[in-house]
Amino acid sequence: MEQKIIELVNETKAKVNAIACAKDLTDLKVEVLGKSGALTLILRGLKDLSESDRPKMGKIVNEARVELEKVIGEKFVQLERKELDEKLMKEKIDISLDKKTTLGKLHPLNVMRRKAIDFFVSMGFIVTDSPEIETTYYNFDMLNIPPDHPAREMQDTFFVTDKILLRTQTSAGQIRTMEQIKPPIKMISPGRVFRSDEADATHTPCFHQIEGLVVDKGITMCDLKGILASFAKHFFSENSSVRFRPSHFPFTEPSVEVDASCPHCGGKGCNVCKGTGWIEILGAGMVNRHVLSGCGIDPDVYTGFAFGVGLDRITAICHGINDARVPFEGDIRFLKQF
Ligand code: DAH
Repeated sequence: MEQKIIELVNETKAKVNAIACAKDLTDLKVEVLGKSGALTLILRGLKDLSESDRPKMGKIVNEARVELEKVIGEKFVQLERKELDEKLMKEKIDISLDKKTTLGKLHPLNVMRRKAIDFFVSMGFIVTDSPEIETTYYNFDMLNIPPDHPAREMQDTFFVTDKILLRTQTSAGQIRTMEQIKPPIKMISPGRVFRSDEADATHTPCFHQIEGLVVDKGITMCDLKGILASFAKHFFSENSSVRFRPSHFPFTEPSVEVDASCPHCGGKGCNVCKGTGWIEILGAGMVNRHVLSGCGIDPDVYTGFAFGVGLDRITAICHGINDARVPFEGDIRFLKQF
């Protein structure tokens, strides 16, 4: 009997070693240690032994059971770990970066906006934000454009209600700033503006402006010209210059259109500047005294200048973009070039 037990133990150990899944191990455990298992049957056979042999054999059977339970138990742990590892491997999500993904870049308009902001901040301007959905009060009335003024017609736009519209110009931000802070003021306010223009090579219903406003004692047009001349140099080239042409904006008096010397031909005349040597980049002027007093600033004490740069235009000039619609289309072939 002892020999039989030793053989059963060795045989079972060999089978345990060879088993690769938990289910087979459970079956083997039942086969050997279960109610009608091989070792259990041997245990039952003890009753047929003599009184003197029974305790010795009983001890051997028990030791065999303890040993096999230990071996099988260890194998269970091993298999469970293995199965868990396999499951984890299968369910693993690779959160590491796919090396094939190409890195995105800033849109050329954003590059230009940041460059402009850097320039003005380096000159001590603050950057303010102003709502895209604006009231006619800020977009027109306070800018000295009363309801019957033809300038409203020119900026016929997207009205939400009679008195609420998508702003047509960042100039509304001037008023909001002057209501909140008093001179000295040096601010820029970049943002999107909207006009109900048909999209074509030179118009888009949404475009970008950077408004500028400086109000203090003794501000003159020389200050305006000096800042805009440096701005043109910063954006185009060291040799760039600006010229002022008389114009009209209801919120500035006097008003000017500002041209920069063409960065492509250096002022000689080319396709980009239509042979004139100059490219219009912004509107500007000295803040109208009605606008100042409307915001509670005494125009006999303070003067100021304001300007509105067309960011899309500057970007187009710098990069030679000849269709205003293209930067809005999100075409990867266009964006990849920057
Ligand atoms: N708001 C004007 C426009 O959209 C541009 C402009 C002109 C802004 C003169 C100004 C300014 O601040 O002084 O056409």
